[in-house]
Amino acid sequence: MMKIVEVGPRDGLQNEPGLVPVAAKVSLIEALVDAGLRHVECGSFVSAKWVPQMADTSAVFAKVRRVPGVSYSALVPNLMGLAEAIRCGVSEVAVFAAASETFSRRNINCSIDESLDRLGAVANEAKSHGMRVRGYVSCVLGCPYEGEIALAAVARVAGALAGMGCYEISLGDTIGVGTPRKAQDMVRAVTRTVPIKQLAVHFHDTWGQALANILATLETGIEAVDASVAGLGGCPYAKGASGNVATEDVVYMLDGLGVDTGVNLEKLAVAGRDIMQLLGRTTTSKAAAALAALKENLV
Ligand code: HMG
Ligand code: MG
Repeated sequence: MMKIVEVGPRDGLQNEPGLVPVAAKVSLIEALVDAGLRHVECGSFVSAKWVPQMADTSAVFAKVRRVPGVSYSALVPNLMGLAEAIRCGVSEVAVFAAASETFSRRNINCSIDESLDRLGAVANEAKSHGMRVRGYVSCVLGCPYEGEIALAAVARVAGALAGMGCYEISLGDTIGVGTPRKAQDMVRAVTRTVPIKQLAVHFHDTWGQALANILATLETGIEAVDASVAGLGGCPYAKGASGNVATEDVVYMLDGLGVDTGVNLEKLAVAGRDIMQLLGRTTTSKAAAALAALKENLV
């Protein structure tokens, strides 16, 4: 069984320039769960000045129908975000750091070490409330400002997140520059500080490598993959930004490999179709597009 962490409602929508109504976010999350996803990142408790689209995450959590056995998680950058997550009855939070110093400053306005101190306090407080804590490392295969990132830096940050009690560390190729062999080398380097069973991969598809990278990292023993329905993500106004690998494509590939995901591809594709219709966009998922074309021919 492969674990899929659906990040569309957070990583996908966070870059949308037009505010997406709360009801649409709630419908999306419920449709994803109905399709069989058991881990859905629903939003983030960050500064509304930094990410306006996520300002209504509390309202999303207040409205979403929670199915037992499903983890509805949220991203938190600091104790203030955690306090809001607690108030909203969130049972799993994700903290995020970067392997690149410049990216850390641009994304969360502090150095890597300052962020690790801050996140250590967040993780302790979250655990004392019985919450599960997941960790992200950004820029694991490259940084938009610094270019190549040393694998030792990735391993150090991942190890620090594991050390503060993150049950899983998601390795983020934030700008989607990685290629399969490099992705394998990166995962293997990180296993020097974090066991493979505790690692997940998070590929953005900017250079079209995400699916190939996932397959390559499965060969290293990875059993958890982040993905975004319809390939949501990327800003139409921000040059170069691109969404995560599409969940439909991941599910189609894993189905073909005989790896169980528990996800119904048809239902998932409908969830993707509906949110893309609302956003006025076409899906970037090849599997969803192929499925839709197949259906049209059958009618
Ligand atoms: P700062 O400006 O240094 O923070 O930002 P501050 O503590 O000085 O506070 C500034 C203002 O923000 C204050 O408000 C605070 O109250 C408010 P003011 O007094 O000016 O009115 N504030 C908050 N409001 C709501 N919720 C909070 C919060 N904290 C402070 N939690 C901060 C530091 C971390 C807050 C800011 O930089 C921030 O919110 N950054 C978030 C950036 C972000 O969300 N990026 C996207 C997610 S990461 C990602 O996408 C990568 C990932 O997908 C993996 C990958 O692909 O690599 C995970
Ligand atoms: Mg991301």
